[in-house]
Amino acid sequence: MTRISITTDVDAGTISRHIYGHFAEHLGRCIYDGIFVGEDSAIPNVRGIRTDIVEALKGIRIPNLRWPGGCFADDYHWMDGIGPRADRPQLVNHHWGRVVEDNSFGTHEFMDLCDQLETEPYICGNVGSGSPHEMQQWVQYLTAPEGPMADLRKANGRAEPWKVRMWGVGNESWACGGYMRPEYYADLYRQHVAYLRNLGENRLYKVACGPYGEDLHWTDVLMRETQPRKMMHALGMHFYCGSGRDKQLAVAGTEDDWYFLMNTANRMDSLLKQQIAVMDRWDPDDRVGMLVDEWGTWHEVETDTNPGFLYQQNTIRDAIAASLTLDIFNRHCRRVHGANIAQTVNVLQAMILTEGEKMLLTPTYHVFDMYATHQDATNLPCYVDAGTLGEGDTQTPSLSASASRSEDGSVHVTMTNLSATDAVTVPVALHGIEGTDCGARILTGDAMNSHNTFDAPETVSPVDFDGVELRGATATVAMPPRSIVAFTVR
Ligand code: AHR
Repeated sequence: MTRISITTDVDAGTISRHIYGHFAEHLGRCIYDGIFVGEDSAIPNVRGIRTDIVEALKGIRIPNLRWPGGCFADDYHWMDGIGPRADRPQLVNHHWGRVVEDNSFGTHEFMDLCDQLETEPYICGNVGSGSPHEMQQWVQYLTAPEGPMADLRKANGRAEPWKVRMWGVGNESWACGGYMRPEYYADLYRQHVAYLRNLGENRLYKVACGPYGEDLHWTDVLMRETQPRKMMHALGMHFYCGSGRDKQLAVAGTEDDWYFLMNTANRMDSLLKQQIAVMDRWDPDDRVGMLVDEWGTWHEVETDTNPGFLYQQNTIRDAIAASLTLDIFNRHCRRVHGANIAQTVNVLQAMILTEGEKMLLTPTYHVFDMYATHQDATNLPCYVDAGTLGEGDTQTPSLSASASRSEDGSVHVTMTNLSATDAVTVPVALHGIEGTDCGARILTGDAMNSHNTFDAPETVSPVDFDGVELRGATATVAMPPRSIVAFTVR
């Protein structure tokens, strides 16, 4: 029997709002074109930053934004991006498409973006080709009330120090960030953080480069080597769930590919269990957080686009991979203190796609909208009793769910029917609450590849849903295939 059982009066940890974090790299049309168009653009903007993008991202209450990379971070020298724009050097973005990086979007522009979004900056410093001194000076430039770097900041027009808490020390140091061994990176991490100081009232939350998915050795070494002085607040793991069996366009794919992708996305659960087991050995009190600071689907680039720009469409399939993953993060909230989907605009599993002055919200954006109620809410034990679909490397749960309680006592439930073809009716037992009011929304698509286009931007968007019937302490939910339902019981 397919059913869900939720205990609404038991506290299973807090779902940090930072699990709903985002990532914007100097890659393709994410920053330039997507977010930043410059003051002289005909596209409405505030100090060069697109107004439509800011409004849309505020709509999903993005809690933090990671920048400037990604691989770009370990090639980035922050002093190139300050001072008068005309004086900033023009360089080549070697990682991404070998296009000219004119540095017109730098530190001040990024901090302005965060202010406009009312979000926390999460800056990733350069270990691969930088130095402890360079990183130390960047922290000083941003956060020091006084001193030479504060004077430079003031000369560039910003008197007050900014508040910057989340600080990453290198990106994928096992790959594009320097091809290091964990032992070597652990030493470099220790060296760098020795010079990253809390200045004035600013307090840093230091994030070490973590493993790719299954690499437990990296985690073990980092946890071991950073124990003595509690040098690390969090470890940033990366995991992408690819495409179908072969790399394919986001809008392509058979039913087999659908389940293959879901199976890969669902690996996040077992990977986190294994990674957390390693962390528990060194840190039984959950002091160090796991941030999955890059995750998402990675398809073939759209036809006739620069392969180095990683521009892909986004379908109901991506939305379902996202809701499945967010349920996993919610469940692991004891140790998963944050996550950043890759990436915000026009890159990989984006929230928003743009074409000139046009923009559209992707199905994945709508998932973040429907899940926003979980931000900083109390995680509730949620037992899903359902079978699996597919077999072998396509085996996947047929149903996924998570639940939370917000301060006013409302209970929020998010459910996903992973079946590509079949509807399901699910009784949801809500132990400890008898609600009278139940507002629900649904996101679904007519086909496995339903998506939004600039001509039809609302093909996949959430609508009010009357398929949740609340009787006493049970909600009965009639879910179409390929659907995500969010409802709140008060
Ligand atoms: O998100 C795209 C790239 O994927 C990032 O730059 C890198 O960190 C990862 O390999």
